[in-house]
Amino acid sequence: MVTPYKNQESKKEQVATMFNNIAGKYDFLNHFFSLGIDILWRKKAVKLLKPLNAKTFLDVATGTGDFAIECMSLKPDKVVGIDISQGMIDVGTKKLKEKGLDKTISLQLGDSENLPFEDNTFDAETVAFGVRNFENLEVGLAEMLRVLKPGGKTVVIEFSKPKTFPVKQLYYFHFKFIMPFFGRLISKDKSAYTYLPESVMAFPERTNFTDILTKVGYKDTGYKALTGGIACIYWGSK
Ligand SMILES: C[S@@+](CC[C@H](N)C(=O)[O-])C[C@H]1O[C@@H](n2cnc3c(N)ncnc32)[C@H](O)[C@@H]1O
Repeated sequence: MVTPYKNQESKKEQVATMFNNIAGKYDFLNHFFSLGIDILWRKKAVKLLKPLNAKTFLDVATGTGDFAIECMSLKPDKVVGIDISQGMIDVGTKKLKEKGLDKTISLQLGDSENLPFEDNTFDAETVAFGVRNFENLEVGLAEMLRVLKPGGKTVVIEFSKPKTFPVKQLYYFHFKFIMPFFGRLISKDKSAYTYLPESVMAFPERTNFTDILTKVGYKDTGYKALTGGIACIYWGSK
């Protein structure tokens, strides 16, 4: 199992520590490394939920709440974001207050693998760059399915591996050299931006991931590659 610090703690503990360490710099580094493309990916993913007319949303591994905020374009009654890192939630909660969104969106501490909600609670669910960090992927996805209402839909954004020139070459250069160097310099965490590419390389992508969604019980699963295959949007329904 790929973990950030390669010590005796569980992956979950290490991931929470890592995001607590980088929380203050997370938003900046995210947009810096992706040149803002991550924002477009979230917009695209949220559009897939539009036909549902969903009113209640769960954003899993919400971090500083960017995907939860993007869901506001669908005029929800309520969006709940859940994350195992209190540091990320604190940064996100401050951001929501500044944007005046804290009445509709609330962020809370919680684990995707043991969600503190009743069965069939949410109309729609989102998770961006989170599933790769789960300690047990299938348990996390099954929990998300459990709290989704019948007829509801989940969208997932996750990094994948581009296959074609020149995106593939640029991507590997960026992941291997640029990201670890600037990530370490700016976040001051030695491991976070080495763990990111390592965890992407080890993670199931494309049909390997949709197969897992189907295995866990999602219906009508599918995926779409984004920006030359740097990332994919996946979806599944209940
Ligand atoms: C790369 S950040 C993504 C944040 C946000 N979704 C975004 O799009 O920017 C990944 C987040 O997943 C959270 N996370 C990892 N494992 C988790 C779990 N089992 N349950 C809930 N959150 C988890 C981390 O704490 C971190 O905040």
